[in-house]
Amino acid sequence: MITFDEDKQIFHLTNNRISYLIQIKPGGYLAHIYFGKKIAHYSSSYDYPQVDRSFSPNPPHAVDRGFSLDTLLQEYPGHGFGDFREPAYNIRLNDGSRVTDFRYHDYQIRPGKPQLAGLPATYVSDEHDAQTLVLHLLDQVSQLELKMYYTIFTKQNVITRSAKLTNHGNDTVEVNRLTSVAIDFPAASYDLIQLRGAWARERNIVREPLNLGIKVLDSKRGASGHQQNPFVALVQPETTEFQGEAIGFGLIYSGNHETIIQRDQYAQTRVLMGINSFNFAWQLQPETAFQTPEVVLVYSDAGLNAMSQTFHDLCNQHLVPRRFQQRQRPILINNWEATYFNFDENKILKLAQAAKEVGIELFVLDDGWFGARNDDRTSLGDWFENKAKLSHGVSGLSAQIHQMGLQFGIWFEPEMISEDSDLFRNHPDWVLEVPRRERSVGRNQYVLDFSRAEVRANIFKQMTTILDQANLDYIKWDMNRNMTEVYSQVLPALQQGEVAHRYILGLYDFLSKITQAYPQVLFEGCAGGGGRFDLGILYYLPQSWTSDNTDAISRIKVQYGTSLLYPISSMGAHVSAVPNEQTHRVTSLAIRGNVAMSGVLGYELDLTKATADEKQAIAEQIKFYKAHRQLLQFGKFYRLMSPFNHNDVAWMFVSEQQDEAIVFYFRMSAEASYPLVTLKLAGLDPAKHYRLGNAVYGGDELMNIGLYVDPNLTGDYATQRYVIKAIED
Ligand code: DGJ
Repeated sequence: MITFDEDKQIFHLTNNRISYLIQIKPGGYLAHIYFGKKIAHYSSSYDYPQVDRSFSPNPPHAVDRGFSLDTLLQEYPGHGFGDFREPAYNIRLNDGSRVTDFRYHDYQIRPGKPQLAGLPATYVSDEHDAQTLVLHLLDQVSQLELKMYYTIFTKQNVITRSAKLTNHGNDTVEVNRLTSVAIDFPAASYDLIQLRGAWARERNIVREPLNLGIKVLDSKRGASGHQQNPFVALVQPETTEFQGEAIGFGLIYSGNHETIIQRDQYAQTRVLMGINSFNFAWQLQPETAFQTPEVVLVYSDAGLNAMSQTFHDLCNQHLVPRRFQQRQRPILINNWEATYFNFDENKILKLAQAAKEVGIELFVLDDGWFGARNDDRTSLGDWFENKAKLSHGVSGLSAQIHQMGLQFGIWFEPEMISEDSDLFRNHPDWVLEVPRRERSVGRNQYVLDFSRAEVRANIFKQMTTILDQANLDYIKWDMNRNMTEVYSQVLPALQQGEVAHRYILGLYDFLSKITQAYPQVLFEGCAGGGGRFDLGILYYLPQSWTSDNTDAISRIKVQYGTSLLYPISSMGAHVSAVPNEQTHRVTSLAIRGNVAMSGVLGYELDLTKATADEKQAIAEQIKFYKAHRQLLQFGKFYRLMSPFNHNDVAWMFVSEQQDEAIVFYFRMSAEASYPLVTLKLAGLDPAKHYRLGNAVYGGDELMNIGLYVDPNLTGDYATQRYVIKAIED
């Protein structure tokens, strides 16, 4: 898949569908030629024209005045020798200079894909599933070596990239920026798509034409964050869900991140993505290396749906823990919105019994079971059971719930500490804080310094004690505030710029150890809902709580946006009570069910208070979900109509064999004299015939003529669900 043309000095990474082309220019500069649809044989007749542009300097020994790094399309650009755009790296050398001049040295082509030490990354189980190009670059003066990793996947339209910097010099250097990816695109018009949001309003799609200038999309919160997901897509202005080109960038990282998009004076576009360079200062000592996180690049020539489907496949087959690749997720009930902190064993058992009766499979005991925690002011860090609430402890409760025929799991917030806790009384210096300054609180809690091994070891021991005593099938790993006063008590002044990243490395180390020690346990990530829903977390925890907002109407947008890159099997989605706790909106059980079963279905309401009719309706939803779980969790997902520009929203799931599909339709608000709504379906076999209710349609009819939504549908928040099955001709 990867070839090197010695004569033309061109690397060509290609599978049957995509091509990525890199050229070594005279002097050893790496030029980016192309990333897009497959080029069968690159002729190299096309040479990106470089003209003599005023105020664009030429590097030393350039033979041609047209050759300037300021205008060249590059693979991993620097700063200080002629390129005035945003650089991929910024390194301070011992003499105070920041000019590092990396030139191509040699390359390696390897089967498969190497893993990144200490960091989550996509993986392959079979060497034939990917091939990797490693480009070695050197800066002769500083003796810094840069290795750039490019992996092309055989079956997906995916290239992954990362970089590793090794210091072979005698002096420590300070790394202030080292992005995971840099690509320059030739002059063209693009739209930029990003996923922006807030707590309880995560990952809304924002699309805008890309204008001249620099746009920075980032998080300085210590987590990937609710506000800005580490993802962007560059698309053609005419790209839709079904047609046009799209290039998606997804960063496999959970901490401070930064995406810089620069459209320069000649309308060329540069995209940089990686760890946030703000306040980042890594002391790279002699003979040590710094590895960046990985970025996933997805190319689609068939619109955003195809881009998303590629991300979904990649996550499901090459990112989540292997044992969860195709493992169906259980239907859970979580007691949080039903009880908050106010529960005891008796109440939990009643709720569990009611859950069992409607067909739920897993009971999750949320916040409040430990220490003396009856509100959010206390006990984080004291991970031992509260016997006043749970008279038989976690293990006793677990045994009773298992006896009912349910699985059982509990909530932890391992990275946090309450001031009112034994842990804080014993180790007040374990929090992130700046000496002589006061600490900021968030939800009455502080952040533990997870960059420190002894802090992690303490929490690990406490968690595993519970895990070893009680029979647990599931853990919810929560994280409910962002970092302030980022400073570690044990690092010297010069290394304080490393803390935010060291914290994430510590978190990954912890997640890796605990998930490997308890492989049977399903871990669900959470950060006040979807505040750390990213590809890094998915590598360890195969599903995440999508949002604290359980309102079906808000969730339509959140889940629609989330599906841009995260698979449905990773999105926790619960039916909750009405009026909704976050929006106070009242919606039908039908729409709450249809939205939640478009993710990993769960329930989060007091079922002991539900009426017989409600229980009956819930039991039917669960029965339906169980019957179609494989399709709804792992089927091909198509977004049909967007909530960001329609009152009518639709999406659908299609089975791998194209013999079954489920379509969901949602109407945001009612209007008089409502126009007829046509749903043009997608992903079916045009040659097959499908049964829908009593009627039979051709796949071509359903996709081209479409389905008419019931014209008699009335009311706000109306919904329809269609199950379509292929029939033998
Ligand atoms: C925030 C989570 O998102 C909620 O689901 C719940 O677990 C609370 N934390 C508990 O404190």
